[in-house]
Amino acid sequence: MPLVHEAARTLGLPVIVKPSSEGSSVGVSRVLADADLDAAVELAARYPGELLMEQMVIGDELTVGILGDLALPSIRIVPKGQWYDYHAKYVAEDTQYLCPGLGDVEEAQIGALALAAFRAAGCAGWGRVDVMRDRESGALYLLEVNTAPGMTSHSLVPKAARQVGIGFEDLCWRILEQTVPAHAVAGGAAA
Ligand SMILES: Nc1ncnc2c1ncn2[C@@H]1O[C@H](COP(=O)(O)OP(=O)(O)O)[C@@H](O)[C@H]1O
Ligand SMILES: [Mg+2]
Repeated sequence: MPLVHEAARTLGLPVIVKPSSEGSSVGVSRVLADADLDAAVELAARYPGELLMEQMVIGDELTVGILGDLALPSIRIVPKGQWYDYHAKYVAEDTQYLCPGLGDVEEAQIGALALAAFRAAGCAGWGRVDVMRDRESGALYLLEVNTAPGMTSHSLVPKAARQVGIGFEDLCWRILEQTVPAHAVAGGAAA
């Protein structure tokens, strides 16, 4: 797979290899050495869609819930292990979630960035934007926009909403108000 090795050289190791259409960190590999690249590509290629390779951002992992025109406070995710893999997301009980994740000035920056990404992707209603913050420079890098983020009582958007006093039930109603056309809500209420 010479092309893949050339791409990794161009980006500069370490890189991240991932399938374009998965989620939950499934099929994602951190590639620190060229010798690990083929296995990472083989893993990602098991899933449908194209393959993505990105420079690995070394630093903090953050996520920002969006509710209509509002960016909720960020959550900084601190996994116990090396990174926020499937195990840290769903199995481990020791992943830490800090909310708000940043100081006031950076909170305003990440909120504006997440909202801009959400809108640029053509999203409306509610969602969640994943971001990495480079530890040395403080620069923020967008990872992805989740268009239907987890909504269990343990999920990240409900956690961030709680931080600004929006409980789970209230959050569900607000999402419905954002996403169901007003005439349908009015019609439903009248019926
Ligand atoms: N460019 C990157 N630099 C550092 N870590 C990354 C990068 N891309 C992905 N990751 C890690 O992989 C995880 C999953 O990647 P992401 O693009 O959010 O896909 P998904 O959550 O849909 O599986 C992220 O939460 C992060 O821990
Ligand atoms: Mg993600």
